[in-house]
Amino acid sequence: MANEPLSGKTALVTGASSGIGEATAHALARDGARVALAARREQALDGVASDVEREYDAETLVVPTDVRDESSVAETVETTVEAFGHLDVLVNNAGLARGESVEEMTTDQYAAMMETNVDGVFYATREAIPHLRETDGNLVFVGSFAGQYPRPFNPVYAASKWWVRGFAHSVEARVGADGVAVTVVNPTEVRTEFGSAYGESFAERFEEGEVTEPEEVAEAIAFAAGQEKSTVSELDLYRRDKFSGF
Ligand SMILES: NC(=O)c1ccc[n+]([C@@H]2O[C@H](COP(=O)([O-])OP(=O)(O)OC[C@H]3O[C@@H](n4cnc5c(N)ncnc54)[C@H](OP(=O)(O)O)[C@@H]3O)[C@@H](O)[C@H]2O)c1
Repeated sequence: MANEPLSGKTALVTGASSGIGEATAHALARDGARVALAARREQALDGVASDVEREYDAETLVVPTDVRDESSVAETVETTVEAFGHLDVLVNNAGLARGESVEEMTTDQYAAMMETNVDGVFYATREAIPHLRETDGNLVFVGSFAGQYPRPFNPVYAASKWWVRGFAHSVEARVGADGVAVTVVNPTEVRTEFGSAYGESFAERFEEGEVTEPEEVAEAIAFAAGQEKSTVSELDLYRRDKFSGF
């Protein structure tokens, strides 16, 4: 259908319990996809699933997942394919930020961020690629402005996002010829629960209108996911004043 570019498609969104992932689940379902929702908080996922089903009359699947656990991720991809029959879109969105300086960061804090932002992305991509090859599917990564420019505030987080971009484009070089499209979406500050691991969340820190809303990022992801023949490769979604005083 013209207004449902993802009709007949299925999508798996990691980090779908809040923020960008939740908004993405809405955007993909609105565009006609059946959407599997993955994150650790099952109750929050249930809430997102019932909102999405009610608003778009869409089919959803709640798959509690810890992206730091490779068997959990493998089970999630398998459950999704079993339930939906095939997989057309993976959105690698789950992520975690901490704000400690390098010299103050404990090894546990470092590991939590790397296992979530790097290992989790690797596990989900590895499990999804064989299915995406079958469907000429779309692989979308949520990167960051922090993965494009040096960030004094949180170097480990920034480096994890540089890894995501490097991985995504290298995977793109590998699977593009097989018909799989790869996109990285790079937002600047977005009003979500992001940042709550070390203090005020971005939703609390910024007023409405001051920075990007999760729905705007979700639109970029849905646009990338809707590409039939091309790949968008990279989409930068910056707040308009980002470069002032840079
Ligand atoms: N907000 C920003 O300013 C901003 C800017 C650039 C890029 N990003 C990126 O955008 C992505 C989404 O973040 P957000 O802003 O929407 O923040 P958010 O509201 O905090 O969402 C993060 C999501 O990741 C999930 N998650 C975290 N650890 C997980 C784990 N071990 N297993 C499974 N899911 C896990 C969380 O779900 P559970 O807690 O339920 O597991 C949650 O759904 C992240 O990759 C982030 O780096 C955000």
